[in-house]
Amino acid sequence: MSDEGIDSKRRNFLIGATSVVGSVGVVGVAIPFVGSWNPSARALAAGAPIKVDISKLEPGDIVGPIPAWRDKPIFVVKRTDAMLAALNDKKSRLADPDSLEEQQPTYARNDSRSLRPDVLVLVGICTHLGCSPKFKPEVIPQDFDSEWMGGFYCPCHGSKFDMAGRVYSGVPAPSNMEVPPYYYEGDSVLVIGVDKGAV
Ligand code: FES
Repeated sequence: MSDEGIDSKRRNFLIGATSVVGSVGVVGVAIPFVGSWNPSARALAAGAPIKVDISKLEPGDIVGPIPAWRDKPIFVVKRTDAMLAALNDKKSRLADPDSLEEQQPTYARNDSRSLRPDVLVLVGICTHLGCSPKFKPEVIPQDFDSEWMGGFYCPCHGSKFDMAGRVYSGVPAPSNMEVPPYYYEGDSVLVIGVDKGAV
């Protein structure tokens, strides 16, 4: 299966435009922050929530890493229907497929590890030694996995995570990628860093 509908140039633009930005102060140029919400760099580092407008995200897009929530980078991925349909195809390859370890708020302890199935929000840090995993959504054989089903790959020591940030068995990373607290304001504004439960 492939994600033929994904415009990889668009996706790469989003990744490239944000990943080269070194300071929180200018990242708003590339990240679709909600304009009226502009916390200082110090406030962001201290854990102030951020608001991200996800209305322009197309299926297959990723925004991130966004420097946010306690100074940790955040990934926001708009998953395609194919990505969602494949989430449980190879659960047997995952170390914690049911998210039993507390790496997410309770409202994200589900198959999609998210409030809304189509939108994945993750702390963009490998749970091994803290590298930033690469977004590898294509369901094609990879040199690191001949049966790759799409997800995130950490080249530092070879950890693999699926399209819900669930860690594969037998890799150095000990647990699933973390899901930060978040909620939605309406349909298109994501507020990251605040836990309001499943609202
Ligand atoms: S830091 Fe990701 S595999 Fe080691």
